[in-house]
Amino acid sequence: MRRWLPAVLAAFLLIGGLTARGADAEKTLYERLGGQPAIEAVANGLVDRILADNRVNKWFTHAAASNENTNAYKGKLATFLCASFGGPCKYTGPDMIAAHRGRGVTSEAFNAVAQDLVAQLEQLKVPEKEKNQVMAIVGSLKPYIVQSGPSEKRN
Ligand code: HEM
Repeated sequence: MRRWLPAVLAAFLLIGGLTARGADAEKTLYERLGGQPAIEAVANGLVDRILADNRVNKWFTHAAASNENTNAYKGKLATFLCASFGGPCKYTGPDMIAAHRGRGVTSEAFNAVAQDLVAQLEQLKVPEKEKNQVMAIVGSLKPYIVQSGPSEKRN
């Protein structure tokens, strides 16, 4: 039995190492970004950038009208992002088609908001891999947010 001890130990170490690596690989994007404080830093910073961005802030007069409205919008965005990145939040608001229906969001406006998001991720020093994953998820929403006209209805 003694003879097998090193092999048994090595097997344990190997399995332990693989499990640890596996656990890391299974971490959600939400966790890898840094959890709730990181999500809030992304959402708060993005909204501040949007409200200061003359390419898009005309869409956000309601969100800019008071601190209360701004904070409410930041909160909704944070919950949506948390849920989209595999976090524990439950987003119970309207889906992206309903939330943006009739707002006439253009492709250029979407791209400007995406640029603001990249700038915010870079300010927060989000690593390249996570930054690309965030942008892939948010980018995939473009067809739902940029709709062809104010009266468009999709079933
Ligand atoms: C880039 C990805 C985007 C995401 C993830 C996103 C997400 C959201 C969410 C979660 C809400 C809140 C919905 C609710 O509970 O009522 C919202 C509202 C809104 N979105 Fe977006 N949105 C995006 C892009 C845009 C763009 C490009 C525009 C226009 C340029 C836009 C304009 C608005 C406006 C005006 C509101 C209402 C804000 C308020 O008055 O409170 N969104 N969006």
